[in-house]
Amino acid sequence: MTEWEGFVSECMACTKCGLHKERKHVVIGRGESLNVPLLFVGEGPGEQEDIQGEAFVGRAGKLLDLLLEALEFSPRNYYIANIVKCRPPDNRTPTDEEVMACLPWLRYQVKIIKPKIIVCLGATAAKAIIDPDFKITKMRGGWVERQGKTLIMPTFHPSAVLRDSAKRDDFYLDLKKVREKLVERGL
Ligand code: URA
Ligand code: SF4
Repeated sequence: MTEWEGFVSECMACTKCGLHKERKHVVIGRGESLNVPLLFVGEGPGEQEDIQGEAFVGRAGKLLDLLLEALEFSPRNYYIANIVKCRPPDNRTPTDEEVMACLPWLRYQVKIIKPKIIVCLGATAAKAIIDPDFKITKMRGGWVERQGKTLIMPTFHPSAVLRDSAKRDDFYLDLKKVREKLVERGL
């Protein structure tokens, strides 16, 4: 068993927070490879993700995929994960306790993938990864640099874009900046 396979089987059996009680699947992520420069981090599985066991396969994921394809991101170049791996009931925002309980799993994914760029999709990811006081509408769209030189781009969650089409252009432009950065860095 590889280290990653060991992580997957441990994570699949996780009961570290109450979200394990109603889940159908633990959703580890989605990607063609772990050897990728770019990691997207969403909030947590929704209904479809819980049923199918894969990240961003519902409506929000379809929008994300559509834009990534339009901007010519190669699916071999990114991995998509979430802050919490089990679906919060009725898609509510995960609590701080749930986020704290689940973060070690994401940290482990980051350690294995070693992304050069992390895109935080929405406030839950930006608060957990960048700053607890992060205000997504005011502070999205700018690069944040981390020790080890990881670049972080906070942007809207695609579900928020589906609810409010006024966010669509900014979301697209933020993703475009990420695409340009990959090209600039030869990634
Ligand atoms: N929303 C998320 O935050 N993550 C998913 O995987 C799906 C919808
Ligand atoms: Fe474990 Fe995370 Fe699922 Fe909570 S959400 S049970 S911490 S995998």
